[in-house]
Amino acid sequence: MYNQPMLRDDALKGKTIVVTGGGTGLGKAMGTYFLKLGANLVITSRKADVLEKTAAEMEKETGGRVLAVACDVREYEQVENVLAEAIKTFGRVDGLLNNAAGNFISPTERLSANAFSTVIDIVLKGSVNCTLAFGKHWIKEKQSASILNIVTTYAFTGSAYVVPSACAKGGVLAMTRSLAVEWGKYGIRTNAIAPGPFPTKGAWDRLLPGDLAEKFDFKNRVPLKRVGEHQELANLAAFLISDFAGYINGEVISIDGGEWLQGAGQFNGLEAIPNEMWDMFAQMTKSAKGS
Ligand code: HXC
Ligand code: NAP
Repeated sequence: MYNQPMLRDDALKGKTIVVTGGGTGLGKAMGTYFLKLGANLVITSRKADVLEKTAAEMEKETGGRVLAVACDVREYEQVENVLAEAIKTFGRVDGLLNNAAGNFISPTERLSANAFSTVIDIVLKGSVNCTLAFGKHWIKEKQSASILNIVTTYAFTGSAYVVPSACAKGGVLAMTRSLAVEWGKYGIRTNAIAPGPFPTKGAWDRLLPGDLAEKFDFKNRVPLKRVGEHQELANLAAFLISDFAGYINGEVISIDGGEWLQGAGQFNGLEAIPNEMWDMFAQMTKSAKGS
């Protein structure tokens, strides 16, 4: 069931949604589902050729309308141009999905200052740039809207070896909760999704190079013993960005099969104890009653 489309066919009818990083991976999957639900779509990222190819594929698959605008989210003027082009083509914009990201694994002490700030600039500054440009527009036009930010579960916990990304995603989560309150009065909802492992080429090439993908198989870290399906993320994203989630504001929803909590609970490691041993442990712990 979880890999089936979930919402009713017209759930996003008449909405225009901008997806950053919409030409590949999870952005492409979420954007495609928004189109199937009746939305107009704007996809943006740095590589115009990738965007054009994806836009053509999406239109063919869904029959919807897709505008591809190249933009580096680190550059505020380019972000303003995406907004202008979207309005020129579709008349208005109703939703922003901050999905573009940069990331790679590295011991932090090996990073140059530029390497660190490159990730911060794409993830945090990029999400800030888009949110600010679109937010100013919506507030000026007195238009309600929905912002959805893709973070990670290590935005809560931090994570070794991806420290710039953890810092940046933590910042995006703080922005999500802050603006939910500040911009609620304008009818702008701000929410986030924290995905667990969802295989994509972009992430796997940079986070699990070589044989790391086998050695560090993500599904073994997940209580449900599987990785995510793109459609189940798309279902959640479509719901949160739609008017059906009209009373959800400032929320972050993890969709990770319980992965991050597995790392958190002090006794979760007891999973390794075979069933037969539990009788013995029960006897021992019961006999400790009087001690
Ligand atoms: C150390 C590195 C590096 C690496 C780049 N740098 N890769 N340092 N280890 N593997 C350094 C460079 O040497 C340079 O520093 C600086 O970073 C900028 O590099 P550029 O290549 O010039 O940057 P740019 O072209 O802007 O590319 C950005 C990028 C790249 C982040 C480095 O990987 C990219 O374009 N990524 C976009 C897609 C992506 O990352 N997708 C994955 C998202 S996955 P110096 O000092 O030499 O100038 C994700 C999932 C999280 O977020 C959770 C998963 C479970
Ligand atoms: P992806 O395919 O590499 O997506 C990243 C996208 O960001 C690309 O389309 C890239 O396009 C775009 N991008 C990068 N730098 C940009 C910039 N400066 N300006 C504009 N666009 C830029 O990887 P993904 O796995 O789908 O990741 C999508 C989102 O999910 C990210 O926010 C990621 O952190 C999050 N996430 C993924 C997972 C996972 O398991 N896959 C888990 C948790 C969170 P260009 O190269 O064309 O610019």
